[in-house]
Amino acid sequence: MIKNFLVTGGSSGIGYNCIKHIAKDHNNRVLIVSRNKIKGNHAIDKLKQFSKNNNISFLQCDLSSIKEINSLVNTNKIFKIDYLINNAGAIYFTKQYSKENIEKTFALNHMGYFCLTILLLKKNLINKGAQIINISSGAHWGVDLDFNDLQMNTKYNGWVAYKKSKLCNLLFTRKLSKLLVKKKIYVNCLHPGFVKTDFGKNNHFIFKFILGLAMKFAAINLDEGTKTLLYLINKKNNKISGEYFYKEEISASSIFSKNMHNAEKLWEESNRLLNLNLS
Ligand SMILES: NC(=O)c1ccc[n+]([C@@H]2O[C@H](COP(=O)([O-])OP(=O)(O)OC[C@H]3O[C@@H](n4cnc5c(N)ncnc54)[C@H](OP(=O)(O)O)[C@@H]3O)[C@@H](O)[C@H]2O)c1
Repeated sequence: MIKNFLVTGGSSGIGYNCIKHIAKDHNNRVLIVSRNKIKGNHAIDKLKQFSKNNNISFLQCDLSSIKEINSLVNTNKIFKIDYLINNAGAIYFTKQYSKENIEKTFALNHMGYFCLTILLLKKNLINKGAQIINISSGAHWGVDLDFNDLQMNTKYNGWVAYKKSKLCNLLFTRKLSKLLVKKKIYVNCLHPGFVKTDFGKNNHFIFKFILGLAMKFAAINLDEGTKTLLYLINKKNNKISGEYFYKEEISASSIFSKNMHNAEKLWEESNRLLNLNLS
């Protein structure tokens, strides 16, 4: 049976490696969504060559922009999705803003996941029985969210902003899983481990150097870092929902990430930002 995958950030790193594996099954059709068109097209060429699967396509979108996500969903013919992998993410050591003037870590790593999923659901583009997998991180530990300052206007720190955005991924997973129970759409998130990828390379030389060095000596390889994602895609019990996985099993997460009141508050603010920027 044909299965349709939409993978954000599938042009490199964890997303790309995941597609390398799933595309081997020619019943799987894959749509990659990421920002850089040349890189995206190069990725699909390589993936097609490797897998001999021609059902791999690419759409360009800056997923930190609400308007671009809206146009992606509403101006393209997108198949009905069986697996939505929200994976595109980045760290910005220097504060930056999205096209809608939203702090970019929050805009891409959280609002990108939120807006794409909500707009796809509104257009009825996610199949009953589908799996939504949000790539979060163990970096979510040790921070909380200030709901009066989600975009860190008072004091910005790139690493803390990243940690908070990954905490948002957990809260989003919890709330969305509850909302989609009746629709039989299952939502989970995961920590891939510390993986050697292009992550962080968008930053200033010194940050890139330090992260690169840490990756060289401490990071796991791409196949190791893709294991939990592939486990969630292939797992037999596909009705588990609202959970956080690490090393191919349900894992502990921070107290803040389990609090439904926090999840509700983040949801309300995300919805407000979405509607504000689409009106
Ligand atoms: N690597 C790790 O150790 C690690 C650990 C925990 C969690 N994670 C999470 O894993 C996910 C994937 O990261 P990775 O390590 O595979 O990094 P990566 O190799 O840098 O890949 C990131 C992907 O996201 C896309 N992307 C970045 N900004 C975008 C934007 N504005 N709009 C659309 N697409 C965008 C990139 O495409 P373009 O180049 O075209 O922008 C690329 O395809 C992220 O969510 C990250 O937080 C990674």
